[in-house]
This record gives sequence, C-alpha cells and structure tokens, in this order.
Amino acid sequence: MQDKVWIFDTTLRDGEQALKASLTEEDKIQLAHTISRLNVDVMEVGFPVSSPADFRAVQRIATEVKGPAICGLARAVSKDIDACGEALKGAEQRRIHTFIATSPLHLEHKLRMSLDDATQMAVKAITQARKYTDDVEFSCEDAGRTPYPDLCRIVEAAISAGASTINLPDTVGYVTPDEYAAMIYHIRNNVPNIDKARLSVHCHNDLGLAVANSIAAVQAGARQIECTINGIGERAGNCSLEEVAMIMKMRQDHLKVHTDIRSEEIYRASRQVSKICNMPVQPNKAIVGENAFAHSSGIHQDGVLKAQNTYEIMAPETVGVPSNQLNMTSRSGRHVIEHRLAELGYQKSDYDMDSLYESFLALADQKGTVYDYDLEAMIYFNQIQDKDEHYQLQFVNASSNSQSIASATVGIAQNGELKQEAATGNGPVEAAFLAIERITGMAVEVVEYNLDATGKGASSLGQVDIIAKFDGKRYHGVGLAADIVEASVRAMIRVYNLIDRAQKVSSLKQQRKAG
Ligand code: KIV
Ligand code: ZN
Repeated sequence: MQDKVWIFDTTLRDGEQALKASLTEEDKIQLAHTISRLNVDVMEVGFPVSSPADFRAVQRIATEVKGPAICGLARAVSKDIDACGEALKGAEQRRIHTFIATSPLHLEHKLRMSLDDATQMAVKAITQARKYTDDVEFSCEDAGRTPYPDLCRIVEAAISAGASTINLPDTVGYVTPDEYAAMIYHIRNNVPNIDKARLSVHCHNDLGLAVANSIAAVQAGARQIECTINGIGERAGNCSLEEVAMIMKMRQDHLKVHTDIRSEEIYRASRQVSKICNMPVQPNKAIVGENAFAHSSGIHQDGVLKAQNTYEIMAPETVGVPSNQLNMTSRSGRHVIEHRLAELGYQKSDYDMDSLYESFLALADQKGTVYDYDLEAMIYFNQIQDKDEHYQLQFVNASSNSQSIASATVGIAQNGELKQEAATGNGPVEAAFLAIERITGMAVEVVEYNLDATGKGASSLGQVDIIAKFDGKRYHGVGLAADIVEASVRAMIRVYNLIDRAQKVSSLKQQRKAG
C-alpha cells in the first residue's frame, strides 16, 4: 500500500492574502465549495482575527462546506487562537494552524525575542488551541533559514504540547530541493517524538522552486503539501496544487505515493480561481495553461496523431479539460444546456437554471452561437449578481469616433427609481463612468482597469475587471458583455454595489454599538 500525501489547500488564506482587492464573502463560499470538490484533505480558509469580515467568512465556510477539514490561521497569541477556535466551531472537522517565526533573522529583527521565548509562546498557543480541537498544526515560519538545532528544539516542544502536524515553510522561497530534502531528513532523524506528527511543507516560489522543493520534501518523508490553485500567493506565489497533484498521479511509479485529489476537477477549479481572483493564468502554465495540451509543431502533431503518447504524457480529460466543444443557439433547450454543463463538471446546485436560461437566450440572440466558455462565464456572473442589489443597470448609450469627444448616457435603477445622466470624456468608458458618478454622487478612484476577451475570436465576450478605491478600501468589480462599454459599466456598477453593501454593514454595526 502506497503512502498518502495530504493536500492542504491555502488558496483562501495565503492565496487571498496576495490579491489586490479582498474577495467578498460570496466569492469565498463559492470557491470553498469548488476546493472541497477537489477532495483536498484540509482547506485553510482565512485568518479569523485579522478582520470581522475574515472571521465571518471562516465561520460561514465552517458551517456550510462539508468534506475537508476546515482550518484557520492564528499567530501564537491568545486572542488569535480564541478567534480561530470560535470561527471554526460549526465545522465537522476543524484544524487550528498556529505559527511563529524561528529563523535568527525574524527572531532578532521582527519579533525581537529569543528562540526560547518563541518556543514558550508556541507551547502556550498549542495548549490553548487543543481546547478547541485535537487537530492542531504548528508552523516554524522561515524554517528554511533556521539552523537545524533550533528547529529540532522547537519542533519537539510543539509535538509535546499537542501539535499533530508540523509544518516547515520555506517562507521566502530561498532553498533548493536538495537542501529542503536534507532539512526534512534531519528533522525525521533527530526529533525524538517526530513519529507522533505528520511533517508538512509550505513552499513559496520566489526562485521558481516551490513545486520542486515540495516534491523533494515528499521524497524525504514529508506527508503533507501546502499549496494553492494556480499557485497564487504572496509575491511569486505558493506551490501550485495542480502541479504537485499531477506529478504524484503521473509519477506514482517513481514516487510511490498518492493523493486523494479528484484530478478531473482541476481545470474547472483553476478557471474559477482565475476569474474570481482576477489573476490570469499564463498560457504556458503546466497542467492548466491554455497551451498545456496544444501541439504546434508539425512533427509533434504528426506524432500525436500516430500515437498520442509520443508527445502527450497525460490526456487533457484527466484534469477535466473538456474534450469537445458544443456550440449552442437560441434553439437549444434547457435540457441541452443542463446536459452540457454536466459534461463540463457543473452540478445543478452550481447554477439557477431560470436566470441562466434567460441570460443564455439574450446572449444567443446577440451573438448567434453560444460556446462552452460563454456558458461558464454566465454561470459565474449569475452567481455574483445579487437580485436585490442597490444599483441596477437599465441601459447605456455611448458614442465615440476618432474626430470628436466621446459621450455616454447611463440609466440606473436605484431603489426601483430610474435615474439617468449624460457625460463626455476622452473615451466612451470614461464618459460612462462620469455619468455613473453623477447618478450615485460618489467618486471612486479607478486603480486598475483590465479588459480581456472571454472566448475566442471577434465574437468573444468582453470581460472588464476594475480595482477601485473608495474611503481607503479597495473593491473588485467585474463585468461581462458582448459590448465592451457595457462590460465596463457593469463592472463599475458592481463596485458601487459592493461599496453600498460595505456602508450598510458599517452603519448596522454603529447602530448596534449605539443601542
Ligand atoms: O509562508 C509562511 O511561512 C506562511 C506561514 C504562516 C505558514 O504562510
Ligand atoms: Zn506562506
């Protein structure tokens, strides 16, 4: 029987930490369901003490998402452990992950304490965490730059205090695979109680070695890998889940380990993370990039036609890349759409057929043919569209040409009342944004504006992602439409609705305080 390597997904904690705008609670719930469908063993979903919003998101995921153990992060301090324990209470299986830095550099300059002080704090935190759960993980932050004797001391104390997983992160992505493997061997051979814990690795990708280091650690005896979908995370990111999972699947013959990951869920999860997190996947990215299974050279194409395995080590379907493309028109009925979505890996609970079909018919009338990627985009946009949102787009009319100034008129329903404004600008998008500003009476600062094509060719849908700042906070708005001015307006209206929601939550809190 081959050993199992546990997959610990931290897309919603380490990955989310690096985004330009935080995810909304709904985004997080949606992604948490997707990650659980991958069948990961543990899912780290936030840092509850960091903000009330993070606390609530962890709390909701803990009660709503079944399958993997739900984990929260906590520094080795009492208030963090309590926040984490409280947020995780509703989970069937819960893990508290506590950490403290152990390298001389971090101890001296960041924490200004000795290793003994850090060890005492770790032991106290682990003991406190055990009151909430038996499943406690302890991480030595910057383990990659910590001397072996120091690591051995703190790891032994952490296990004695009740940690059942010991994680040794390469926090700054500095070590090489042979060094990392040597560290794992050393800990396994020099910590007397190491048999009472599972060894885990957590690699950052600053030198592009996160995946190689994680696999080297597994070869040296580590049995948990911490990773994120598409490798998103701080700076150059974390170890990529899809890559380590597929390495262990495709090279079981050599590595002699397995994971419980459902590989057919990988592609869908990758697309969803990329869309919701506003993080494009590079086309040549292993496993999930657009070109990962494309053969360009004539010699390769010829080889694959004669025998697929000449140039293809795994079939695209293994990771859930749809094998054929079905093109739909306004004559396609609901059952065709449902059938196609099932083939693409969607369950009925992933969408509301009535509103999806309505959007489908509108798009089919506009474009003629609706493709798989259009359907997927509509599912995503229908999910984030809140029917009760404060601002609802009624229409946009924009005009521009190369010789004169652009203008736009926008109509928005606000609490059921239609408001419309016109404005001019350097281009139709700027004019439309100014018109929206006049309607709402609020000026936001557009920090980033990205226009991308969802689909292929001239009939692609335009997807606009905006990062906008208001009152010191950043908001991510996304809009999709066949017309790029409309897509921009939809993205901006989403921003205003998120601001409206944030304002309502904060005034509710103030009322509660006052009452
Ligand atoms: O990179 C790191 O060291 C971390 C820890 C909190 C585990 O993310
Ligand atoms: Zn990290």
